[in-house]
Amino acid sequence: MDLGSIGMEKGLLYETIVTTVNADHTPNAAPIGVICKNDKEVVIYLHHGSKTVRNIKRNHSFIVNILKDPMVFVESTLGNLSNNYFEQYLNEFYIKNTDAFFIADVKSLKDVEKKDNFGVSVTTVLKADVSTIIKKKENVEPLNRAIYGIIEGLVYLTRMEMVSGDMEKLYRHRMIEISRIVNKVGGVEHKKAMKKISEAFSRYDE
Ligand SMILES: Cc1cc2nc3c(=O)[nH]c(=O)nc-3n(C[C@H](O)[C@H](O)[C@H](O)COP(=O)(O)O)c2cc1C
Repeated sequence: MDLGSIGMEKGLLYETIVTTVNADHTPNAAPIGVICKNDKEVVIYLHHGSKTVRNIKRNHSFIVNILKDPMVFVESTLGNLSNNYFEQYLNEFYIKNTDAFFIADVKSLKDVEKKDNFGVSVTTVLKADVSTIIKKKENVEPLNRAIYGIIEGLVYLTRMEMVSGDMEKLYRHRMIEISRIVNKVGGVEHKKAMKKISEAFSRYDE
């Protein structure tokens, strides 16, 4: 099996739940964006300071869970996901109700200083080989934000005739952000679609 078998396409960024093992052998989970480099390789960018980055630096391996359970995303972001969400697999853990998961073995790791909208920060760029892939459901569809951005963009576009003042300003800002996200996480078709939306939106330029 390769990443194509769980719906992952080269070049797209998917929102996943990465599970790792803490120093005391307990499980940890966090939402992490995973870029599909090719059928057998992923790249992730980890912000400095998370348990996930510490655990991966120590263990050189992690599990990527493909799921859409909203509470798993929320609980693992706001605090620690409770132990009954996890199931052991060899020496690691995956999320019990996941649609699919795979083991990723780190093959390179680099700390880089990154300047972005949020200031200067250290990010660990990590390449990993995909080994075992386990499908728990027949149809697996990994979470990619591009289509949601396109739908949001279209909604804003069709509302532009109806809004003015601060609301119009807000829509303009939102459209810039949506375009940034779609171009960051999407594939060729998503980017093409977003370009058309931006072109149509430009008739409302100030
Ligand atoms: C949808 C989503 C995607 C995220 N992607 C990343 C990412 O790619 N890299 C990262 O370092 N943090 C990412 N985060 C933030 C981490 O999940 C968050 O900092 C988390 O609290 C870290 O938990 P931990 O300390 O248990 O590892 C993301 C958060 C969300 C909600």
